Amino acid sequence: MQQLRLDSTQAQAAAKLAGTPCYVYSQAVLEEQCRRLLSWQVPFDFTVRYAIKANPSRALIRLIDAAGLDFDASSEFEAKRLLSYGIAGSRIQLTAQQLASQHADELFAAGVRFNACSLRQVKEYATRFPGLELSLRVNPGFGSGGTRKTNVGGPSSAFGIWFEQMDEAISLARSLGARLTRLHSHIGSGTDPDAWEQAAQLTLDWALKIPEVATINMGGGFKVARMPDEKGVDFEEVGRRVSKLLQKTADSTGRRFALEIEPGTFVAANMGVLLARVDDVVATGSEGYTFVKLDTGMDALTRPALYGSRHPIGFLAAGKAPLGPEQELVVVGHNCESGDLFTVEPGDVLAPRKLPLPAIGDFAQLAGAGAYAAGMSLVNYNSFPQIPEVLIAKDGQMKLIRRRQTLEQMLQNEV
Ligand SMILES: Cc1ncc(COP(=O)(O)O)c(C=O)c1O
Repeated sequence: MQQLRLDSTQAQAAAKLAGTPCYVYSQAVLEEQCRRLLSWQVPFDFTVRYAIKANPSRALIRLIDAAGLDFDASSEFEAKRLLSYGIAGSRIQLTAQQLASQHADELFAAGVRFNACSLRQVKEYATRFPGLELSLRVNPGFGSGGTRKTNVGGPSSAFGIWFEQMDEAISLARSLGARLTRLHSHIGSGTDPDAWEQAAQLTLDWALKIPEVATINMGGGFKVARMPDEKGVDFEEVGRRVSKLLQKTADSTGRRFALEIEPGTFVAANMGVLLARVDDVVATGSEGYTFVKLDTGMDALTRPALYGSRHPIGFLAAGKAPLGPEQELVVVGHNCESGDLFTVEPGDVLAPRKLPLPAIGDFAQLAGAGAYAAGMSLVNYNSFPQIPEVLIAKDGQMKLIRRRQTLEQMLQNEV
């Protein structure tokens, strides 16, 4: 799979257009991922929903919409945001941990589909919106994911209706007159096709118990390799396995289930880099480390501090002097926070990397930063402004798709 890396000319051009730090995205990589997603040979109807939490920028949503994907919203505000971008409600499904309380009437009037994640949600919505078409999110009792924070199935996860409560959820929905047309499971970010197959089978088993259900949704979680030593999911293999199961189910039961998936990472992770400059280099003696400090940090890219996740880091000389010799470096952010580390591993382990020593002012790029990066940032921590975003169009032109936040914007709601 392609992963965006900037060359010196591109880094200079992006810095000229937006300043540093900024996010830079590749339209070509984004569209290639959308094409791969739609290439599964599913026997019946197939819908791919982009999970907009991965990166909700309007310019990207436009491209993803044009590529033929529908949308998955994780809060009423994400759903509203999509409607405001001109996305039809019927192409949005809402799967939210918090009950939509402010905009529910408007969203459902616009045709947004609803996926209930708890007995409370089933009861509330079926009562408030009689006759509503309903999907149920089931926690099948197991998950798949790199860490507890990315594994969203099984007993340690609060997501979805616990499988032992499904009968109760089904009778509740029926007694309130809801139409149960869809079933959903999302087990987390994993690479194992067996786990995907198992989850699909389990969802199908539940779907077979409910005659009105016509669609199963497998959620997202298709892991991509960001680092060279990481393993991504064999996405095509998962497609073959799930399609086979759907066909087998149709042959044995006559039920032709439509399939939905809702990836975020797979679409966006490798289309983006965080472009920054080296702001300082400090050392802590012969027993210590050499730290390279960037002009960005966990306020812009939070994943390393949150998950200990790793991103490829590269430096590019910005002046005439070439980069120095390789040595073990700890790359840190600009926040006054000891957890603001970019060379870290899960468990908050400091993990120096062998990199060429940059000079102050040189460029740094953190790759694999298109998903859960700009959209998941701790905006305004230490009062650093939200950073700009740049899109490299397919003809190579760079376009500013988000301006840098101003201090006035940061302060505007203070009273
Ligand atoms: C319900 C649901 N769908 C889709 C996604 C997207 O997952 P990913 O970005 O790993 O593909 C998530 C992520 O947490 C989710 O909770």
